[in-house]
Amino acid sequence: MKYHPIDSNLFIKNRKNFMAQMKPKSLAVFNSNDIYPIGADSTMPFQQSRDLFYLSGVDQDKSMLLLFPDAVEEKHREILFLTETNDHIAVWEGEKLTKEKATETTGVKTVYWLKEFDKIFFELMTQADTIYFNTNEHYRANVETETREDRFIKKTKAQFPAHSWAKSNPILQRLRSVKDPIELDIMQQACNITEKGFRRILDFVKPGVMEYEIEAEFMHEFLSNRSRGFAYTPIVASGKNACVLHYIENNQQCKDGELILLDVGAEYANYSSDMSRTIPVSGKFTKRQKEVYNAVNRVKNDATKMLVPGTLWKEYHEEVGKLMTSELLGLGILDKADVKNEDPDWPAYKKYFMHGTSHHIGLDTHDYGILWEPMQANQVFTVEPGIYLPDEGFGIRLEDDVVIKENGEPHNLMRNIPIEADEIEEIMNK
Ligand code: GLY
Ligand code: MN
Ligand code: MN
Repeated sequence: MKYHPIDSNLFIKNRKNFMAQMKPKSLAVFNSNDIYPIGADSTMPFQQSRDLFYLSGVDQDKSMLLLFPDAVEEKHREILFLTETNDHIAVWEGEKLTKEKATETTGVKTVYWLKEFDKIFFELMTQADTIYFNTNEHYRANVETETREDRFIKKTKAQFPAHSWAKSNPILQRLRSVKDPIELDIMQQACNITEKGFRRILDFVKPGVMEYEIEAEFMHEFLSNRSRGFAYTPIVASGKNACVLHYIENNQQCKDGELILLDVGAEYANYSSDMSRTIPVSGKFTKRQKEVYNAVNRVKNDATKMLVPGTLWKEYHEEVGKLMTSELLGLGILDKADVKNEDPDWPAYKKYFMHGTSHHIGLDTHDYGILWEPMQANQVFTVEPGIYLPDEGFGIRLEDDVVIKENGEPHNLMRNIPIEADEIEEIMNK
């Protein structure tokens, strides 16, 4: 791992909060992710299950966490199962968590090797009535592969058909959406790395550069700052490529007079940052580009002010739609008749701003959070309005990550990343 060690008190608290919501005589099991194959002996780089990481800090594959608050023996209330290692295995397979290191990382005192799981699990299941399974109920989840968690659930249901089952996911959705100060600090570090990348490319961009050269500059800065790399597939979209919302080819030349939409964020310690900026290739916006840019920026600033405890996500989006409608009227992109005749299910502004304004962010870029429950302090949301004008050859999106505060204005984790059009021009021309 490239990141600095995380204070294990975070994981101790997270488990305590989870266990406080479990039913009597129940246990919960969490599995790591698989390492996904490519072909021959090639694999994708490992990415830990965010739930297992949240509850333990373990960042290696073939790992399991078992929580059983009512276990007869105290030592079995929290157990980690890990791949066996020793000095000999370490020479061949590289460094893995020893039992001592695992306890230091996670705060879990009882660590067994994975080969002991079946026997201990059977014994503990005889003391339990209910098992919590960890399914993925994220509103955007779209998973076609069978995960390690899926295989565990299938096997356990067959082996223990008389137990009742419960869902871990709703508990985790609520817990993970509200960030601990330790997590906010890590997320600030991710945003700071993104800032370094952005400042680097403000110095780098000039007419003629390729989109992938810009991507490479970000990657250089991210890796040099202990990030594993991009938190999500980066978008570096010049000209009208910016109007393709999921443009990830990043293979075109950036030309004089065009804008480049950058939707790029560093990960740090498995936490995401998610930034969008739109900059002029030449270092100078045209008058029209700047007018549209400033409209997007005003919507972003006004939307951010609405991120306070109690706000409902759906109502918030309706209010942002009204702000955007008013800006599009001001720009002459919509006229009054468009708005008067609009379909309430697909308002006129959606032709130019067709995606959501905000999502939860944290261990996942599109993080957990129950969208129909009121916003709470210490939840972190993106704010990312945009206006896309393919006929004019450009699209603009601006995106920051902000923390909801108990009192007062939200705290912008990207407050130091240049966003005002004049400041962008000044830095690009210095
Ligand atoms: N970069 C993904 C998003 O903005 O939601
Ligand atoms: Mn983004
Ligand atoms: Mn986003």
